[in-house]
Amino acid sequence: MILLDGKLVASEMLTTLKREVAVLHEQKIEPTLHVVVVGSNRVVDLYVKQKSKTAKKIGIKIITHKVTAPFSTQKVVQVITRLNAQKNCHGIIVQLPLPEKVNTDKVIWAIAPHKDVDGFQMRLFRPPTPSAILDLLTFYHIPVMRKKVTIIGNGRLVGKPLSVLMQKRGAHVSVCTHTTRDIASRVRNADIIVSAAGVPGCVAKNMVHEHHVIVDAGTSSEGGTIHGDVAFADVAPLVSAISSTPGGVGPVTVAELLKNVVIAARTYGIKESYTHTKSPKTDHSTAGPFVKRIHT
Ligand code: GUN
Repeated sequence: MILLDGKLVASEMLTTLKREVAVLHEQKIEPTLHVVVVGSNRVVDLYVKQKSKTAKKIGIKIITHKVTAPFSTQKVVQVITRLNAQKNCHGIIVQLPLPEKVNTDKVIWAIAPHKDVDGFQMRLFRPPTPSAILDLLTFYHIPVMRKKVTIIGNGRLVGKPLSVLMQKRGAHVSVCTHTTRDIASRVRNADIIVSAAGVPGCVAKNMVHEHHVIVDAGTSSEGGTIHGDVAFADVAPLVSAISSTPGGVGPVTVAELLKNVVIAARTYGIKESYTHTKSPKTDHSTAGPFVKRIHT
């Protein structure tokens, strides 16, 4: 069994990014990511802390904006509008999920495309978690072309964008949601399984075999800690390759996000400002073994 080691992949990416950030610092550009947190939640705080810690190590600045109750879409959009116009802001992310009263689509589409480093709009930047999954597989020389890929979960952060990117790379994709009846057989029939349901144990040992590649991109929280979807201890000995949680997709996702911030700072940082209507070509030439990968 091969362990798909996200910490290793992330550390290689971060080494390259650190050098690139140093070059930007010499040009008096300090890559800066603004994180908008709506409400307070221990797990969200944990995610933000992980991002901040890694960013600091490579010289990227993170500024957090807390939006407090009473919540409204307008209140969050106002913060984003202000950041869209701000020069020392190269990327904006709004930590999800948002409170019920806030319209997630309106918030996401309020972000200027050249600052949408979470890639929600799928315009100038590749979304970090799907990129992390693809880069993790590439690193271990696991092709997706013509492979049967079953994705469990159809969410905004992983399932939806990943199914698009996987299909663009020639994979035969099957997406399962909570209404899918035959998840177990779709898992059994796949070559690669990506689980992003947020349901611990949803990939169990009776669904897998020795040729399976399993990527655990699920996150759920219990008692302030984050869990994956795969029953790792039971499943790992039975499959060909698997990622763990923690230490799998998570660290690479953070590195991908920071890579987008570096790309944004390098492409748009020197210019005074860009408007929503301009869509200049983004310079994606960054980050070590992934230099040639541009978003598709
Ligand atoms: N909530 C959990 N993970 C993420 C993430 O990667 N980006 C955003 N915006 N929200 C999240």
